[in-house]
Amino acid sequence: MEGRILLKGVIIMSLIACSTARELKVKDQGTIYNHTLATILVEYAASVYVSDLTELITWTCPKCNDLTKGFQILELIVDVKRCLQAFVGVAPDINAIVIAFRGTQGTSIQNWIADLYWKQLDIEYPGMEDAMVHHGFYSAYHNTTLRPGVLSAVESAKEQYGDIPIMVTGHSMGGAMAAFCGLDLTVNYGSRNVSVMTFGQPRIGNAAFASYYSKWVPNTIRVTHEHDIVPHLPPYYYYFPQKTYHHFPREVTVLQA
Ligand SMILES: *[C@@H]1O[C@H](CO)[C@@H](O)[C@H](O)[C@H]1NC(C)=O
Ligand SMILES: *[C@@H]1O[C@H](CO)[C@@H](O)[C@H](O)[C@H]1NC(C)=O
Ligand SMILES: *[C@@H]1O[C@H](CO)[C@@H](O)[C@H](O)[C@H]1NC(C)=O
Repeated sequence: MEGRILLKGVIIMSLIACSTARELKVKDQGTIYNHTLATILVEYAASVYVSDLTELITWTCPKCNDLTKGFQILELIVDVKRCLQAFVGVAPDINAIVIAFRGTQGTSIQNWIADLYWKQLDIEYPGMEDAMVHHGFYSAYHNTTLRPGVLSAVESAKEQYGDIPIMVTGHSMGGAMAAFCGLDLTVNYGSRNVSVMTFGQPRIGNAAFASYYSKWVPNTIRVTHEHDIVPHLPPYYYYFPQKTYHHFPREVTVLQA
């Protein structure tokens, strides 16, 4: 009896230890998945949630002193009305421009999920035949202050630091925006060294879109957690293949050890 209780205690303790240390086991290791890089980028995807803007600008948030130490923030973009936030900066350790998008906070993700169910793939991605995308995610990036803010910051980062790689990241809805941003930089701005790594990203487009996307931004990794419900929404619509969401091919499922 006592032994069982003790064992339970040990299991709970080790679960906590695992999640804080982010010791994650990878089930399906794709050729370009770099776990070290993932542990760094997830820190950026998490820090963009910090609501104290001063802490972000000065890069002094509680977690800003660890794997992302020395990050030079160039632009912090906030869309107060829509509760969106993003930043652009240069990470000296990985020598890259890092762009991070915040997902919605608190209960608002439920609104987005409801929106995904009822307003599915409702707009065409410009210039890509048959490619349909989710309007909400598309316009959160394309039709807000985020896009011009991000693009001008990338421009000035390139002036200062040269043509270094660009890494775009985000969690949940922020991951959806990161994917649109990576595609935008590649298709519309001719950026050649763009990689996208998202965490728990929901689906954003149909099969035609996913196919275009993976040609334009092959260096994309979607890290998902098998217990995280967000990437599994919305469900596939088997009877309407045109209207079915497709994930990009390269998906890495991260399991808690
Ligand atoms: C993985 O990423 C880290 C951090 O950017 C880098 O130092 C390392 O060389 C990369 N590993 C491989 C195998 O590319
Ligand atoms: C962009 O935003 C404006 C104003 O909020 C709105 O009228 C317009 O329909 C939006 N366009 C798209 C494509 O979402
Ligand atoms: C992208 O940047 C990395 C790191 O600087 C470099 O090794 C690679 O060759 C670049 N790729 C392209 C296509 O420029």
